Amino acid sequence: MPKTQHCTTPTSFDDILQQRLSRRGLLKGSLAAASTSYLGVGSLAASGSSDVHAAAPKLRLNFKAVTKGLDDLVRLPAGYSYKMLLATGDPIAAGIPAYTNTGADEASSFARRAGDHNDGMHFFGMNAKGRWDAKVSDRGLLCVNHEAITSTFLHPNGQTIVEGKRTVDSEVLKEMLAHGVSVVEVRRKAGTYELQTDSPRNRRITTMTEIEISGPAAGSPLMITRYSPTGKRTRGTLGNCANGHTPWGTYLTCEENWAGYFRRPAADDAKRSAQQLTALKRYNLAGNGRELWATAGPDGNDQRFSRWDASVTGTSADGSDDFRHAPNTFGWVVEIDPFNPDVAPKKRTALGRFAHEGAWPGPVRPGQPLVWYMGCDARGEYIYKFVSAKAWDPADAGKGISAGDKYLDDGRLYAARFNADGSGDWLELSLGQNNIDSKNASYPFANQADVLVHARLAADSAGATKMDRPEWGAVNPQNGEVYMTLTYNPSRDFNKLDAANPRFYTDSKAGKQGRGNVNGHIIRWAEHDGQQGATRFNWDVFLFAARENADRNNVNLSGLDASNDFSSPDGLWFSQSGLLWIETDDNAYTDTSNCMLLAAIPGAVGDGTQREVISREGDQQKNIRTPVGAEATPDTLRRFLVGTVDCEITGLAESPDGKALFVNIQHPGETTNGKGFDIAKPNTYLSHWPAGGDARPRSATIVITRDDGGPIGADLV
Ligand code: FEO
Ligand code: CA
Ligand code: CA
Repeated sequence: MPKTQHCTTPTSFDDILQQRLSRRGLLKGSLAAASTSYLGVGSLAASGSSDVHAAAPKLRLNFKAVTKGLDDLVRLPAGYSYKMLLATGDPIAAGIPAYTNTGADEASSFARRAGDHNDGMHFFGMNAKGRWDAKVSDRGLLCVNHEAITSTFLHPNGQTIVEGKRTVDSEVLKEMLAHGVSVVEVRRKAGTYELQTDSPRNRRITTMTEIEISGPAAGSPLMITRYSPTGKRTRGTLGNCANGHTPWGTYLTCEENWAGYFRRPAADDAKRSAQQLTALKRYNLAGNGRELWATAGPDGNDQRFSRWDASVTGTSADGSDDFRHAPNTFGWVVEIDPFNPDVAPKKRTALGRFAHEGAWPGPVRPGQPLVWYMGCDARGEYIYKFVSAKAWDPADAGKGISAGDKYLDDGRLYAARFNADGSGDWLELSLGQNNIDSKNASYPFANQADVLVHARLAADSAGATKMDRPEWGAVNPQNGEVYMTLTYNPSRDFNKLDAANPRFYTDSKAGKQGRGNVNGHIIRWAEHDGQQGATRFNWDVFLFAARENADRNNVNLSGLDASNDFSSPDGLWFSQSGLLWIETDDNAYTDTSNCMLLAAIPGAVGDGTQREVISREGDQQKNIRTPVGAEATPDTLRRFLVGTVDCEITGLAESPDGKALFVNIQHPGETTNGKGFDIAKPNTYLSHWPAGGDARPRSATIVITRDDGGPIGADLV
């Protein structure tokens, strides 16, 4: 929203910040003119000049560090409280009965209940007219992803599987409806928030929802299915992990672990060309499907279930009589208009197909292209950037999904190469660029639709840098710098370490995850000349995660101590103030602590030094020079929350005034299913959160507030 629309009474954290900075007299004319606050991408964004750094506000963490722990509860600092907002199975429509959490709840009711595994989310303020308003905090629509399921607790006695087949269709239907997205209205009451259970705006988008395919791959022969012989539609969204948003008030949900749901037996290989096999292998399309959905249905011909079979079962040449191309209709960024339930969500194919973690917007400046940063979350995969062809016109703010057609269907996709000297290049993934053409020996690309459907193969050809599992990104509203977590990588090849992924070590306490890049790190970069559309950037490693007592030469390179050590960074979110939130999803430090949320006051790219990172495998050693940001201190990085047993902390959204933080406790007790587990014996469950007692565990969105009503995490000083 342009600066001229700011109210005189501060209604958002951004307004308060603007007033504070104006009083200091630091806002220079050129910066004020470039000011474009909206939705967490803020006002002083990124001219890249030193003026911006000079104007950054001073922050002071306003809480005492929470200690690490293994209890089945959510720990917060003194002076903070949380409230349950939306847990698995909660009704989101009038007339839907309360969730029994016994597995007995009727399957089809999940079309009007919260799904499972709450993940990425965003708060869209709503004004009195029911329209999006980025400055409203008291009322809003919360969009919440439901990435996956803990099937152990979804049915009376786990999944019913007989001879490798799902024999109870209603169980499969319930699971298909428990994935996707919830849109729910929330209102502030007594300082915190309440779910408006009967709001007419509440809705679910699931694996069953009709979705349009949009952009360059729409209508491609690669998209033809029995469901849509024109290749312009598909059914449902899946693996909705992290998210993004747009300056026109829509939500982006991102499809991550979709490939594993498809069945494609080995016998299908004989029906495929060598080129098709290259593509299928690159996207791991093989096996029986992780939930065996394709095996449900009385005769194997009920499309609700058979669509999960990606093998060639029909006789057509183009795939219009089976679902061999169905996997090509997943793996996208999907745009949802929270304020317009009448318009179908759209899969935005210009942003490429891979294991999309999320899509994080860069600064929004009138007359400049819009950008979104993205990661493909798998070991050794890439970081991507999409740059719109059209320049941003503030008149499009609030236009909803129709503005998406303008900005998200036309643009350039890039993959990142991180050079050893701290520079980086964005490699364009367009037909005819960077070896991406019909003469490519490993995969001849036919056209741009082929490039986008097979973006991983295009990035291979371009020579992008293989990263240690890109998870979330976030853009610093104070200077436009981009942060991305590289969660961990036990598969990193010791002989293929590089400056951006330099660590390799062993940690005997970390079990099977205790080799390679055991604890993960956070990389960050600054676009050349502060222009988000630039093709060059400079980078450093913001933080290396580690145990506090790990070796300072090869593991604890960022100087973490007991107040701020962590492992496997995953979720990220920048508050308008420039405070960075870091969430973990850890498999390595779990002997010491459950997953956590930390708050950081980051500096900027280049605020540290070049370091020798010493990596060891057996008696081999490698010394790799890497740009590393300033070491953390207890004043710049502090643990804010520790979660329940066997959960990950994920999903972050904030009210525009910075006084409420929405966080997801995902899959508590998820690995309950091992030796000795008996659904009839609650004492064999690993977690009972949130209800306690003998209850089955549930994923849930909580909302955190400060007891005195102040901003969460840090105060401006
Ligand atoms: Fe769904 Fe990569 O976390
Ligand atoms: Ca994640
Ligand atoms: Ca993760």
